[in-house]
Amino acid sequence: MSEFMLERLPHMAYGGDYNPDQWPEEVWEEDVRLMQESGVNLVSLGIFSWSRLEPQQGRFDFAWLDRIMDMLHEGGVRVDLATATASPPPWLSHAHLEMLPVTADGVRLWHGARQHYCPSSPVYRDAARSLVGALAARYANHPALAMWHVGNEFGCHVAACYCDVSAAGFRAWLQERYGDIESLNRAWGTDFWSQRYSDWDEVLPPRRTPTWPNPSQQLDFMRFSSDALLECYDIEHAVLTDKSPGVPVTTNFMRFFKPLDYWKWAEREDVVSDDVYQDPADPEAGMRSAMASDLMRSLGRGRPWIRMEQTTNRVNWRDVNVPKAPGQMRLWSYQAVARGADAVMFFQWRQSRAGAEKFHSAMVPHGRPESSPTWHEVVKLGRELGGLDAVCGSRVTAEVAILHDWDSWWALELPSKPSIRINHVAQLESYYRHLFDANVTTDFARSSDDLSAYRLVLAPSVYLISDEAAAKLTAFVEAGGTLVMSFFSGIVDPFEHIWLGGYPAPFRRLLGLEVVDWLPLSDGEQVVLRFNEGAMARGDVWSEQIAPAGAEVLARFSGSSLDGQPAVTSHRFGQGRAIYVATRPDPAAMARVLKSAVSEAGVKPVLEAPAGVEVVRRSTPRSSMVFLLNHRDGHVEVPLSDPGVNLVDGSEVHRGLFRLGPRGVAIIREGW
Ligand code: GAL
Repeated sequence: MSEFMLERLPHMAYGGDYNPDQWPEEVWEEDVRLMQESGVNLVSLGIFSWSRLEPQQGRFDFAWLDRIMDMLHEGGVRVDLATATASPPPWLSHAHLEMLPVTADGVRLWHGARQHYCPSSPVYRDAARSLVGALAARYANHPALAMWHVGNEFGCHVAACYCDVSAAGFRAWLQERYGDIESLNRAWGTDFWSQRYSDWDEVLPPRRTPTWPNPSQQLDFMRFSSDALLECYDIEHAVLTDKSPGVPVTTNFMRFFKPLDYWKWAEREDVVSDDVYQDPADPEAGMRSAMASDLMRSLGRGRPWIRMEQTTNRVNWRDVNVPKAPGQMRLWSYQAVARGADAVMFFQWRQSRAGAEKFHSAMVPHGRPESSPTWHEVVKLGRELGGLDAVCGSRVTAEVAILHDWDSWWALELPSKPSIRINHVAQLESYYRHLFDANVTTDFARSSDDLSAYRLVLAPSVYLISDEAAAKLTAFVEAGGTLVMSFFSGIVDPFEHIWLGGYPAPFRRLLGLEVVDWLPLSDGEQVVLRFNEGAMARGDVWSEQIAPAGAEVLARFSGSSLDGQPAVTSHRFGQGRAIYVATRPDPAAMARVLKSAVSEAGVKPVLEAPAGVEVVRRSTPRSSMVFLLNHRDGHVEVPLSDPGVNLVDGSEVHRGLFRLGPRGVAIIREGW
């Protein structure tokens, strides 16, 4: 954690969402006893308790919360206290129908589930402010309080609202951004299809229209919707910092969640936290959760973060809910720690008896804990994490960054493109996969960030780019950096207007080429590429016709209408190099391109390890800890050049081959 967090949570935090209000008080004692047995030292308390905390408007009932806060404190368990605003009580929407959200089709979403509020609703915002004020006043100085947990997974079910209140909020947001209606008309290109506005009152959210609504309007509405929810967070944050100063504040993110620009959100949090529900049936689940972890660390600008939710075993919300294999929960928990987390938490502590999530696994199962293999894994992991104080506060550093901008993602996936098959996250993964396999640690960065600390920057289809960001990327290469960029980058400006002057106008000089035409590939269609050294590969999704203007050709298309034309190019620019990839190469070919870029940039893997073994380093100014994570079902041997101590079990580790069991984990502190 940051110094700020370490004061309150000096150990690796372990625990989960705790909903004691779903249980008779007799169960609470057993809860605290089992928490102690399993090493739980932090719980996220009362995330959906609004209707119990405020059974009628303005009438608060804190007696039960007082009792459980005290019991947890006496039991040595600290509290990440929820503001409980994610599920408004029925009395609120019953009295104020207008606070319920409305879809683009005009359908109002009713209470009876959760997250049924319009983010712009003053009724909702005032009620949330009042509840949080009462909670903060009551618990700010409670000795169990470790941090505040605002809302829950903002935007998870309702990321945008199209009602009249939201429309007014959208107009106010646009007025702030553009000032006058003429600037809005210019920014949205409203001369197309006779959309010119003469008055602000005519401007609406992109509700259901006969065909595509204006893309610039859609993009601004996505920005506005992320900001509208962020305002809800800010309202609570302001109350908490006022009434409960010095207590860290977080809200839980959801990996690569498209609706919210987490770069902006993370700036307002003291600690970033994240929920990850890997699908055990997905053979690439390990790669995907590593990628989410690297994003969380990057959002917090390197500070340790919290794995706030994951599941001990099965979820309940896929069509078929496959269990985690033995050891998988432990392995994936350590993966989060390896990539910078100082907390391993679950949804939830005790499996619910009623409600929509009663078949979702938890730390404490429905049955007798002692006969549940999951409970035994929970206890073992808790005990192990209890011995990892040395890891707390340590950092992960990376020399590679992958560019990831929310507004480019939003714009890229708007309809009416040359192809709708370019998927932002799939493009990120096409790069990340190789770095994960090669144990090259990677950060994520905004294209407008200062990139000078990195040696290698990867730009997977950065479709939308501002002038300033393009200039920064150019300066990065000029000063000696290596860049790899994919097709359909640098196409539009922040208003979703084409950069004119030959594609990709902002990067033509940097890449030493011009893209003359796009040839998107249909479903199942592939192109063949031939690298200069003779290796053959395939590409899918996209191809394009390139006219080099200084770039050398590393691979050419072979056999299609683009036969003999460049597919991968490289351009020396200033002190650095810019590589361009004009299709989506198969994973082996992408690995080939990236391997040479990694070596050109002088970047080294943490360790050369057998396939399936993930290696990440965390360090402090005084110590270096190498995490070894075996994702395979069988034993592996990892060659180690330095001796050390395995922090997981305290054993000495010698130079030479180190044996890891199936889904085995080791943290080797180098030196004795
Ligand atoms: C999360 C949510 C939890 C719980 C969990 C089930 O999205 O924050 O409250 O619903 O999913 O997997």
